[in-house]
Amino acid sequence: MTALTLSTSSAATLRADAIVVGVAKGPKGPVVAPGAEAVDTAFDGKLATVLETLGASGGEGEVTKLPAPSGLKAPVVLAVGLGEAPGEDEVFAEEALRRAAGSAARALAGVKKAAFALPVEDAEAVAAIGEGAALGAYTFTACRGTTGKKDAKNDKSAPLGEAAILGAKPRDKAFKAAVERAAAVAAEVNRARDLINLPSNDLTPKTFAAQAQAAAKEFGLKVEVLDEKALVKGGYGGLMGVGQGSENPPRLVRIAYTHAKAEKTLALVGKGITYDSGGISLKPAGHNETMKCDMAGAAAVFAAVVAVAKLGLAVNVTGWLALAENMPSGSATRPGDVLRMYSGKTVEVLNTDAEGRLVLADALTRASEENPDAIVDVATLTGAMVLALGDRTFGVMANDDAFRTSLYEIAEEVGEQAWPMPLPVELRKSMDSPVADMANMGERMGGGLVAGLFLQEFVGEGITWAHLDIAGPAFHEKAPYGYTPKGGTGSAVRTLVRLAERTADGDLG
Ligand code: BES
Ligand code: MN
Ligand code: ZN
Repeated sequence: MTALTLSTSSAATLRADAIVVGVAKGPKGPVVAPGAEAVDTAFDGKLATVLETLGASGGEGEVTKLPAPSGLKAPVVLAVGLGEAPGEDEVFAEEALRRAAGSAARALAGVKKAAFALPVEDAEAVAAIGEGAALGAYTFTACRGTTGKKDAKNDKSAPLGEAAILGAKPRDKAFKAAVERAAAVAAEVNRARDLINLPSNDLTPKTFAAQAQAAAKEFGLKVEVLDEKALVKGGYGGLMGVGQGSENPPRLVRIAYTHAKAEKTLALVGKGITYDSGGISLKPAGHNETMKCDMAGAAAVFAAVVAVAKLGLAVNVTGWLALAENMPSGSATRPGDVLRMYSGKTVEVLNTDAEGRLVLADALTRASEENPDAIVDVATLTGAMVLALGDRTFGVMANDDAFRTSLYEIAEEVGEQAWPMPLPVELRKSMDSPVADMANMGERMGGGLVAGLFLQEFVGEGITWAHLDIAGPAFHEKAPYGYTPKGGTGSAVRTLVRLAERTADGDLG
């Protein structure tokens, strides 16, 4: 991954392949952002004019590359748009810095070292720039044969090698901590992205579980894997019912981080459908090409647990990965079949494409047995949530208003787009079944909320619970922007990590 370093060297003398400067949208054209003074001096104070002549406006994500004038050690200057300039006495928003650093890092693929001369008023700004650079630099190369590897010197599939953040003293404790946290969090978001981008022929429930076991060994986590035999024996009818049509049998992974001084325990539950064909209720063409991403919830949970371990937070975090492949076959669950869930409830499967809630239900019941202080599940659960909120925003549902608000605020704080959604009780009866305790689907209207209500039935009595439906933002199909690449995004990882930090700090109830 891209190395993040801090430097107090002047932008003029630092050895780097490129210098990144910020340019904001001012009332009368582009304005050079603080941090770039030395670079502007090398341009005789005319950097803003040069940029304007080149057509730059300072708009968000805009990238302008210039040959450096004499007086700068680096050969290239890259001006990145920060969007609207902040008002007097205001600083650039963290997310504006994170996105700008991401856009710059993306434009610097294949480059060894870049210096980031962006505004760094405080440690939060350093963290945002570091995170943005390391996230923007992400590339997925695991499936490349030869493309992009032939010309090692100018390999555009290689991420930016090093991002040196200027203006922040490396010995300053707050700056040092900020950049270390940024590196750990970004590495784990990128771990989630890698898992999501891996095609379903390479990532099965078994190989996913093996990755969890390897990471557990590396980071000192406790891991347990239930295989299909253990799942049958344990009565996990939801996981087995979804996975029984596949040649790749299901797994339930428990991966736990504990801290000696922890006062609270968080349980994180992730939907891990390594491929969602829809099962016998097969998805039509046009709806199944990206369904390798249906394990993004489990990837986020896994990555968040590792991040918490790397940061050594004083909180216990138990991750539950509900892994299965949803395939049609002679052994697959049929529409109309009734499953006996781990909780003892029976569920009539009306649509085998509503499989996420079935695997999550078993994991939620199992997680509840350990009586955690709170449970958060993360899932690419419904197309209805994408219709409601679009492809950049995840929905937050909960059985506790304050907890839902906290999660929404945390997401906003870390730069993830989220929105609170209700769980209207009157929708519950649409899942009544004439033969079983309930059905796995109900009313189509409000489908994302119906799914949330289904999950709620499997959360242990009195346990605070929230549900993040990341079906929209988990997988990005449009052009990259800011620090968001095409493909797996690592949605929800940063929110989960900040939730763990806040819980460790005793900020949540
Ligand atoms: N994995 C899908 C949801 C999804 C849709 C994720 C688009 C990412 C992008 C889920 O398993 C599903 O198929 N849900 C159905 C439920 C319905 C049958 C009740 C849906 O949303 O259509
Ligand atoms: Mn489905
Ligand atoms: Zn699914």
